[in-house]
Amino acid sequence: MGTEKRKILILGGGSFIGRHLHTRVGSQRADVTYRKATGLNDIIFDATKNSLSEKIDLRADYSHGIILFSETNVEHIAANPEMARLLNVDHTKRVIDQLIENDIVPVFASSDGVYGGAKGRYSESDSVNPIIEYGHQKRDVEQYLLATGCDWLTLRFAKIYGKEFGDGTLVTAMLSALLDGTLTKAANDYFFSPIFIDEVTKLIVQFCENGETGLYNVGGPDRVCHFDIAKYLENKLSPSKRPLLPVQGCSINEFIRHENRAGDVSMNSTKANKVLGSVVSSVFRVSDELILKGKQ
Ligand SMILES: NC(=O)c1ccc[n+]([C@@H]2O[C@H](COP(=O)([O-])OP(=O)(O)OC[C@H]3O[C@@H](n4cnc5c(N)ncnc54)[C@H](OP(=O)(O)O)[C@@H]3O)[C@@H](O)[C@H]2O)c1
Repeated sequence: MGTEKRKILILGGGSFIGRHLHTRVGSQRADVTYRKATGLNDIIFDATKNSLSEKIDLRADYSHGIILFSETNVEHIAANPEMARLLNVDHTKRVIDQLIENDIVPVFASSDGVYGGAKGRYSESDSVNPIIEYGHQKRDVEQYLLATGCDWLTLRFAKIYGKEFGDGTLVTAMLSALLDGTLTKAANDYFFSPIFIDEVTKLIVQFCENGETGLYNVGGPDRVCHFDIAKYLENKLSPSKRPLLPVQGCSINEFIRHENRAGDVSMNSTKANKVLGSVVSSVFRVSDELILKGKQ
């Protein structure tokens, strides 16, 4: 990784992104921290309780520290903003300081939640205007990084999905719910640019290897709402497997208790795609693969 240093540090190895990133990079090129032990040799790091340097020799061979630990449940964050802020902002800044002190480039997992949702197809030059607490917390860390004057990489991820049934992500969860008849409604007033996990991990690795720094939107090519995906999947199912009643459109706010989230946070990710140099998959193409897999 990088020009001279060989390893990356994955902080939050139990996260969805962390697990996939570790698989891609391998244990030779990454050290990984976990909040809870999953194996005998795991490095245990709880960002609210431990200092990073007490758990890891930061003078070792690390080029980048990929910060993936976070409170990510948007509803929980809205209900407990101060508690979430401790981890998502205060302790995250502390970790950033330690990485920078040790000449390790911090890579921060931000989110399309920093955008206000009034415009859509946001690019990096658009101003941010979060409307949810999760977005406020991401924005605060982004601004902190900017003010350091050091090298950093901020990746504003769109909603990330996988294709393993049971992984609980966007498409697999919708398809499972369609098949068991529990998907009756899907939101048609919240737009985003979902991206496939394998493309996210490929991008992280390539950006670290290239030594890229700065701010990047990281989303797929589509601007979709949940209803678009639900209808696409529904129409692809054979008639015998379709739900008895067609899926209905509704507001995303029907699924949410704490904050109004309707809007359009879709992103233009041209800047990242140019570095990646390859085409990012459409959520519909990955959905086709899943449907095929489900039929086998
Ligand atoms: N997935 C997406 O669609 C998406 C989209 C935009 C941005 N992001 C950002 O990308 C990052 C990773 O997301 P993800 O979905 O992969 O995360 P995730 O699966 O929700 O996992 C979050 C991780 O944070 C760890 N964690 C929680 N509290 C901690 C603490 N006090 N100390 C250390 N670790 C702690 C959890 O540990 P345990 O394993 O012990 O629970 C878990 O592994 C997050 O910053 C998220 O906001 C994700």
